[in-house]
Amino acid sequence: MKKVLNISSKTKLDLKKIIGKCIAVLGITGSGKTNTSAVILEEMLKYKYPMTIVDIDGEYWGLKEKFELLVVGKSKNVDIEVNVEHARQIAEMSISKNIPIILDMSGFLYEDIYEFLLNYMEVLWDLAGKFRKPYEIVLEEAHEFIPQGNRNDLKEIITRIALRGRKRGLGTIILSQRSAKVEKDVLTQSEILFLHKVVHPSDIRVYKEILPISSKEASILISKLNVGDCIFFFENVYNVIHVRKRDTFHAGFTPSLKAVKSPKLKVVSNEILKSLKSITKTKIKEKSEKDKLQSKIHKLEAQLAEKENYIQKLERDIETLGRISVEVKQPDISPIDKSLIEKLMVNGFNQDNSSEIPLVDENNIKENIEYDLLPENAKEHINKILKRINKLTKPKKEILKFLVNRHPQSYTYSEMAEWINYSESTLYKNQPNELLRMGIISRERKNNGFHYASNFDNFVKKEFKVYLTESDNGILDLIENYLKKQLQ
Ligand SMILES: Nc1ncnc2c1ncn2[C@@H]1O[C@H](COP(=O)(O)OP(=O)(O)O)[C@@H](O)[C@H]1O
Ligand SMILES: [Mg+2]
Repeated sequence: MKKVLNISSKTKLDLKKIIGKCIAVLGITGSGKTNTSAVILEEMLKYKYPMTIVDIDGEYWGLKEKFELLVVGKSKNVDIEVNVEHARQIAEMSISKNIPIILDMSGFLYEDIYEFLLNYMEVLWDLAGKFRKPYEIVLEEAHEFIPQGNRNDLKEIITRIALRGRKRGLGTIILSQRSAKVEKDVLTQSEILFLHKVVHPSDIRVYKEILPISSKEASILISKLNVGDCIFFFENVYNVIHVRKRDTFHAGFTPSLKAVKSPKLKVVSNEILKSLKSITKTKIKEKSEKDKLQSKIHKLEAQLAEKENYIQKLERDIETLGRISVEVKQPDISPIDKSLIEKLMVNGFNQDNSSEIPLVDENNIKENIEYDLLPENAKEHINKILKRINKLTKPKKEILKFLVNRHPQSYTYSEMAEWINYSESTLYKNQPNELLRMGIISRERKNNGFHYASNFDNFVKKEFKVYLTESDNGILDLIENYLKKQLQ
């Protein structure tokens, strides 16, 4: 039987279609986001879907009225109180044993939430790669964790899960009252959106960018939204719907004069509680002196290996230069021949096809010098990016090259197809989604469809900001130039 989620009287979602996808639930405080998310979760829990709900304000424990979930964290509603050092074990237990978890973070300090979630998400990401089964992560106040513009480890892993979790079965539900402050990549790549009421102009603008309708139509739609109403956008179709009210107790309800009875909470199975209690009892051992030395040795070994690699590269360069000069100085070559050979070599030819003299040209040398000036870890980062780009299909690379060279102009598919000599259908089959996700190019919806443009400079700024030092602010230009040359 088909498994469906009943979202409103008319809206039914096929469970299969949401596995591994990113769902965004946006709107001002009080517009009904948490209710919408709880409705989705009630429907998923009906099918025993494993999940973790990151509950910042303690609003989800009411789900226990009907379903078996474990609430951990620090607040009066938790089944078991846990600390930061338990994060990894809880994540592992949840995903390996299919236990739905509510992380009630309402009693944690911000720094502890950060560290807890970082450890937790890392484990979910790693283990999801192993299990490859459906698993959902719900994140309230997403603008706090994946803010537009900033960069940190937690944002990196959550963004990765939201954008690339599908293959591992990892789906996300991202909630925020400030759409414009959430990482744009995540919102524009969300395939299912519940757009509740917004009033802030920059938030309205985000909706307009997402919806395939004119700005005027969007304004009218948005202005008519009441509590619980939203613009539901899925498979490129939008509808205004009224989400049903959650069946389970809403701890975050807007207070009214009517007294609300506390729900009878379903008792979490003893076995789960027992296994978690044993986890929380395991004292995290103080790192012994030996452990500390061991990790120092590992670090030094890694540094040494890096240096050895560098030395080897330099030795190879010296050897190559030596070979060139030896070949050039062969005694039986007349001065005229010699200059001819040198000329040929500068132009990238070898006088003997079997020899392996590398191409020597001034630009190349300059580029190498530029490259050598970069910090080692920036080089690694650059090489990773180039590797990712090199894996792309030819048309995608051409799109990138074209947009970078044409910055800041933006182009539709058919325009690009004309410029770079591919048929429009080839380009459609080669949509540059990876490049959008990486943020190297950007996309904007206009009246006549999507327009693409280079976002290369911002991408470099975002990716390489960490290598900036006070004395060295030309480094971003160096990196940008170097990368651009590699694209040509
Ligand atoms: N679809 C709905 N039907 C009926 N009441 C709703 C609906 N959505 C939200 N509400 C009520 O509106 C109030 C705010 O909803 P909530 O989901 O907490 O908003 P948000 O998370 O956006 O701040 C709550 O009292 C909630 O019960
Ligand atoms: Mg809420």
